[in-house]
Amino acid sequence: MTPRSLILAVESSCDETAIAVVEDGSRILANVVASQVAMHAASGGIVPEVAARAHLRWIVPVFDEAWAAAGATWDDISAVAVTEGPGLAGSLLVGINFAKTLAYVHGKPLVPINHLEGHLYAAWLADETREVAEPIFPLVALIVSGGHTFLVEMRDHLQYRLLGETVDDAAGEAFDKVGRLLGLPYPGGPAIMAAAAEATRHDVVFPRAWLGDTFDFSFSGLKTAARRTIATETDGHGTAIGESALTADRVAELADGFQESVVDVLVTKALRAARQIGAKSVVLGGGVAANRVLRDRLAAGARGAGIPLVVPRPALCTDNGAMIGAAGARRWAAGSRAGLDLDARPSLPLARR
Ligand SMILES: Nc1ncnc2c1ncn2[C@@H]1O[C@H](COP(=O)(O)OP(=O)(O)OP(=O)(O)O)[C@@H](O)[C@H]1O
Ligand SMILES: [Mg+2]
Repeated sequence: MTPRSLILAVESSCDETAIAVVEDGSRILANVVASQVAMHAASGGIVPEVAARAHLRWIVPVFDEAWAAAGATWDDISAVAVTEGPGLAGSLLVGINFAKTLAYVHGKPLVPINHLEGHLYAAWLADETREVAEPIFPLVALIVSGGHTFLVEMRDHLQYRLLGETVDDAAGEAFDKVGRLLGLPYPGGPAIMAAAAEATRHDVVFPRAWLGDTFDFSFSGLKTAARRTIATETDGHGTAIGESALTADRVAELADGFQESVVDVLVTKALRAARQIGAKSVVLGGGVAANRVLRDRLAAGARGAGIPLVVPRPALCTDNGAMIGAAGARRWAAGSRAGLDLDARPSLPLARR
């Protein structure tokens, strides 16, 4: 059990301005997320300078809404937790400075949080619909997001051993890039999932990069294969017709083939890792964990192996403040503190081998 705590959590590492109040690292009292997705869709991706300015614009209204929803007083709050990295420096600094101000004005400890630890600890947020109340150690966690793809072993809270990671692109990055190649809207992940669900044929097969029996991942070859296939799609007469001429049916089939390739590798490696370390649960997190096919496939495999899968509901897989509050409660209880000189750490890692 975590000591009783109310954590005010701030997340601004990428393109979501998010503030939450979380009780005991699991119960969500408020969780407000202002997404910049629609704004970045126009440019087809995130422009860091634009993202930082949007955080500045939204952080006070997001706080006001979260604070009103939580119904807490400052006497109830144990600490202010904030994402210190990894992420975009300019974006991180907005949240960090906002959190510092709150901590200073209200005399609360400031707890720095690794964004990836947040994605992982989303699995501890209360959800009465799942098989087990919370993850059981030892566990294997697969974190798949826009910037990261890795497998870690946890034998206790806040202790990580890296089993494997991507050697090139993150899974989410591959979804976003291939989505663009298919002419789908940004971000590519949800768009590919929606397109693939419409596929009536499943005969597009893209390569899988197994990288031997390691737990590492590689998605750049898959991206290149998808690019090549899309570029050489023909009109039946051997003439390249390009992405703009792909029919909706063909886009669906290609999206399905791509998604299958990513999911197959992720699920196979996660389950092999779980068996190898004798895991008592498997945790799935990060934005790509919002993918229904990945969730269902890993759940089925884990069930077959007799290991419960713990995966947050989709809205808690993509960036949010509640996950930072969940990790924040653990870090606060463990004594992690930052001074008012806390700086952004854009490349902060989570774990070592
Ligand atoms: N349903 C989905 N299927 C596949 N991918 C998805 C889905 N929903 C979101 N994603 C992908 O998740 C990624 C966003 O996840 P997240 O918000 O965790 O990333 P991030 O915070 O930008 O990166 P990181 O957490 O590595 O710093 C995007 O690449 C997006 O395409
Ligand atoms: Mg993220």
